[in-house]
Amino acid sequence: MSFSVDLINWYQKNKRELPWRNTKNPYYIWLSEIILQQTRVEQGKSYYLKFEKEFPTVRALANADEQKVLNMWQGLGYYSRARNLKKAADQVITEFNGVFPTDYKNLLKLKGVGKYTAAAVASFSKNERVPVVDGNVYRVISRYLNIDEPINTPKSYKIFSEAALELMENSRPDEFNQAIMEFGALHCTPTNPKCDKCPLSDQCTALVLNRVKDLPVKKKK
Ligand code: ADE
Ligand code: SF4
Repeated sequence: MSFSVDLINWYQKNKRELPWRNTKNPYYIWLSEIILQQTRVEQGKSYYLKFEKEFPTVRALANADEQKVLNMWQGLGYYSRARNLKKAADQVITEFNGVFPTDYKNLLKLKGVGKYTAAAVASFSKNERVPVVDGNVYRVISRYLNIDEPINTPKSYKIFSEAALELMENSRPDEFNQAIMEFGALHCTPTNPKCDKCPLSDQCTALVLNRVKDLPVKKKK
C-alpha cells in the first residue's frame, strides 16, 4: 500500500491520547505547539492543561499580565517563548480582530510562530495542505526515501517539505501530519528504530540498502 495509508493505519492503532489532539480550536493547538517547542510531551501536558484552564480564550491570555504568564511558565525555560506567547495573543486582538488565524500565511505573522508551528496550526485546525517538518519528519523521510541531504542546512527545509507534500498525497493533512510526527517519536526513533516490525519496511529505501543507521545526515558546523 502507499506510505500515507500505511502510516495513518499505524497511527490509528498506536497513537497516544494527548489533550491537544481532541480539539480543532486554533488557539488551543497553537498553545500546545508553543509549549512543545522545546519541551517533552510528558512534561508539556500539565502545562498545556494549566494554560488552557487559566486562559480559555486568546482574549483571556491577551488581557493577562505578562508577569502572570511568566510565572505560569516556570519550569519550562526559554522564557522568550512565554513573552512571545503573550505578544502573539495581543497581535490576534489588534491585528486579527480577536479571531485566531488558521491559514499558514497569516499564522506566520504571529510573534514566535515559524514555519513548523504555522503548518501545525493550519493543518490540525483547518486541514490546510501544508506539511509539518520537525526533527521527527526529517528522520522518517530521510530514511524512507534514502535522502543524503543534511537536515540542518539552509536548503534542507525546502527539500524535505516538498518530499513530505508528495508523500501526503490524497490523505487528510491533519491526520498525516500527526501520524508522521508520532511515528518518528515512537517507532522510527533516532536510535533502535523498530524496523523489524515496521509497517513501512517493504518500501523503506534505507532499510533495503542497510543505511538506516547512517540517516539522517547532519552537517558538522
Ligand atoms: N510535538 C509537537 N507537536 C506535537 C503534537 N501535536 N503531538 C505530539 N507531539 C508533538
Ligand atoms: Fe524507520 Fe526502520 Fe520503518 Fe524504515 S523500516 S521507516 S527506518 S522504522
